[in-house]
Amino acid sequence: MTVLEQLTSQQAIDLENNYGAHNYRPLPVVLSRGEGVYVWDVEGKQYFDFLSAYSAVNQGHCHPKIVNALVQQAQTLTLTSRAFYNDMLGKYEKFSTDFFGFDKLLPMNTGAEAVETAIKIARKWAYEVKGIDENEAEIIVCENNFHGRTTTIISFSNDQNARKNFGPFTKGFVNIEYDNIQALENVLQNNPNIAAFLVEPIQGEAGVYVPSEGYLSAAKRFCETHNVLFIADEVQTGIARTGRLLATCGNCNCADKNCSGTPEVKPDILILGKALSGGAYPVSAVLANNEIMNVMKPGNHGSTFGGNPIAAAVAIAALEVVRDENLAENSYKLGKIFRAELSEFAKEHSLIKLVRGKGLLNAIVINDTEESETAWNICLKLRDNGLLAKPTHGNIIRFSPPLVMTENQLYECIEIIKKTIASFHK
Ligand SMILES: Cc1ncc(COP(=O)(O)O)c(C=O)c1O
Repeated sequence: MTVLEQLTSQQAIDLENNYGAHNYRPLPVVLSRGEGVYVWDVEGKQYFDFLSAYSAVNQGHCHPKIVNALVQQAQTLTLTSRAFYNDMLGKYEKFSTDFFGFDKLLPMNTGAEAVETAIKIARKWAYEVKGIDENEAEIIVCENNFHGRTTTIISFSNDQNARKNFGPFTKGFVNIEYDNIQALENVLQNNPNIAAFLVEPIQGEAGVYVPSEGYLSAAKRFCETHNVLFIADEVQTGIARTGRLLATCGNCNCADKNCSGTPEVKPDILILGKALSGGAYPVSAVLANNEIMNVMKPGNHGSTFGGNPIAAAVAIAALEVVRDENLAENSYKLGKIFRAELSEFAKEHSLIKLVRGKGLLNAIVINDTEESETAWNICLKLRDNGLLAKPTHGNIIRFSPPLVMTENQLYECIEIIKKTIASFHK
């Protein structure tokens, strides 16, 4: 077998099953090409992608501007390590700090690495600026969080599947209920060792849980009162996914034309990943202002690939696409249509219990138990009907297409979803 050999779907599935670790349960479809909102399987069947690589491909598959930046940079200089300066990193740091309205950026590769980085920065800030005794700092996190898969991150997850038999775990985290401002206030009032509050503005992996109006801004206010850093993990919700440049977008200085600067908050530490590269390359970042980021000194942290010239070139192009193609605006507009249409449909189809989301990060809750296979079976049928989506947790299906989708394409997809759900009797 050579890399050029054309495989059938079954051959590709067998190879992964036989030679790859079984740490995922993919839907049985083998993709070999993507463009915009579409992907194609190895037999040439076309699908609408309604997962967008977990919101990494917000700009659409193989966006020509992003691919071009990748290819050009790959032909010029790929990696220098941070042992030397390169002529792309500074440009990217200037561009993206202007874009999101922060003083400084620390570049990493994956979302989990960026979360780890934010935790380290917050702890160091707690000891060196806030004055907490060494090794006593704690970080508040939320139940049902998803911040990645490293040992420290699963230490504060309550997903047994992610934790079981991976202990011992890292200490220093306090778990509270999500969207419960009283729970946050209680911990802040009673625990002087809190360094930070780490939160997803919408809990994506947990099933697209949108917190109550005002929760994030109230949380930020309480954090300010107690001199605690507010860390927003926008790895999934960021970069226009929820109809704004950031789900926390508010009084920021960002490049989102929709940003009226009214609701929500500006985090002290912002974590980005996924769509920061439009899915072309692993790029993640932590952004903060000087009084926080300046705690990091040479040797404290790093990564061989973090801030490499390809990542820098790709990320600039990816953010330019978000700005120039008004993706936040499109996501906002299409998201409203999606939820309105499916909520109306749900009134007559009891199989859908609930439709929720923001922008183009949405989910439907299937009227069946968490352990049931109904959501999985619906996804198989959606696949047969030309649309790819995947359950998040048991009975919840997330719908997050690329943000370059047109209104006509969205209506076509809504029809596929309605037709598929209607074919299940409940
Ligand atoms: C909110 C959030 N944080 C962190 C991560 C981890 O990102 P990565 O898979 O790139 O490590 C994810 C991934 O889904 C995520 O949704």
